Amino acid sequence: MHRIRPTPTRRTVMAGGGALAGLALIGCSRGANSLGAASGRLPETRIGGIPIALDAAERPFRLGGNSGPTPAWLYGATPFPLYRMRLGENLDVTLTNRLVEHTSIHWHGVRGPNAMDGVPYVTQLPVQPGESFAYRFTPPDAGTYFFHPHCDTAAQLGRGLAGVLIVEDEAASFDDDIVCVLKDWRVAKDGSFLPFVTSEGAGRGGTFGTLRTVNGLVAPQIAVPAGADIRLRVLNVDSTRVSDIGVQGAEVRVIAIDGNPLTPFALDTWRLGPAMRMDIILRTPKAGGRIALTDFFAAEPMVLATLVAEGAPKRGEPFAPTAPAISKHTEPDLANAERHELKLSASAAATNYDVPTSIQLADGRRIDLLDSLCSTAQTLWAIDGKTWPQMGHENLPPPLLSLARGTTARIELTNTTPHVHPMHLHGHSFKVLSANKLKRPEHWADTVLVMPEERVEIAFVADNPGNWMIHCHIVEHQDTGMMGWFRVV
Ligand code: C2O
Ligand code: CU
Repeated sequence: MHRIRPTPTRRTVMAGGGALAGLALIGCSRGANSLGAASGRLPETRIGGIPIALDAAERPFRLGGNSGPTPAWLYGATPFPLYRMRLGENLDVTLTNRLVEHTSIHWHGVRGPNAMDGVPYVTQLPVQPGESFAYRFTPPDAGTYFFHPHCDTAAQLGRGLAGVLIVEDEAASFDDDIVCVLKDWRVAKDGSFLPFVTSEGAGRGGTFGTLRTVNGLVAPQIAVPAGADIRLRVLNVDSTRVSDIGVQGAEVRVIAIDGNPLTPFALDTWRLGPAMRMDIILRTPKAGGRIALTDFFAAEPMVLATLVAEGAPKRGEPFAPTAPAISKHTEPDLANAERHELKLSASAAATNYDVPTSIQLADGRRIDLLDSLCSTAQTLWAIDGKTWPQMGHENLPPPLLSLARGTTARIELTNTTPHVHPMHLHGHSFKVLSANKLKRPEHWADTVLVMPEERVEIAFVADNPGNWMIHCHIVEHQDTGMMGWFRVV
């Protein structure tokens, strides 16, 4: 009602409808691609209370100026379907696997029920080729989320399996709401994929993509209303790259991190690691004015996307943005917290779990083994001295932590390595209390950057029962050992 939305197009329908999307891609992928290039916006689908069929399939997609299409694995006709729903509505998404290997959907950052968390062998069985799985739950918080698979992630996410989930709060009013999804692709000039994992990369900061995109496009231009207050949701879904995001050409306030609202502060730059999100509000200039979403990480700042103002100004009053409602997460009880330290380290040796740990899934089945797609091919990293099981030793490991429901956990993440690790916890949002290298205000998050040799303290109330993953979101680190799980009982 108070937002300007792109007029629904055929693509909006196609992106959500499984069979239709499948059909559409054969004839229309070029058309869809150029339409995307014209608007720069992702096609949107409203999903609240509506059953949605989602196919994961190989869908050739032309990236940038490459000479040929990329054999992408996508959830829709084009990369990153964007689902919107209102807080309180139900999500009902049925994934059908049309890939050559098993997959699942993890709803990153959503504090949903454990059985819907999408982690093969920990919360559900993998969805095998030809099979379907229905994800049904009501997200408990408004926010900016994304979704992706959870085994063989370097390859599956690397090939393009990611989508955006927005749960809208109606407390704040903006003139437009724009989503920018940052992802690099490991492609050659002919569009073919390059190896997603390299031993040089996996053992260091990760293997970087060769082509940077926003919404699947190279440096898109996105038309926005002039003189307007717009909300910009920036998602880093890249497997590897940490960006230092700033905005040139407008006054900007940060209003949420990882979907968690906070007291707005002026944006200088924000270090956005893999899986991290940032919502900002800005006032657009008059018609013709341009705003650049920029990565200041490298010596040469790089413009990732440009917003171009169009039309008559929407607002005359000075920029005084109202923030969305403040976070409703339960405050951690620091005085009575259980303290833990988790060391992030390199590890050449795989931990052997002689006795398998058994997990009971929601449907009653018991799991104690992983398959090779869900174990690490090579071991390079560990959490608390323990590695995710390596291929050939597929016993499920014991939990890193076991927390009684309602306990406040205060965890020190200690990085003993010279590399940055964006650490992510499933099923909970945590408060970032302190960090001794990279200054940042106290805020809620689901993924936090732990800088080289840094100690970061987080705390949360373990109030969501189940078996939850904790891992680094540099996907090659996750896939080579820096992953474990914790239990809330
Ligand atoms: Cu983005 Cu384990 O997740
Ligand atoms: Cu890492």
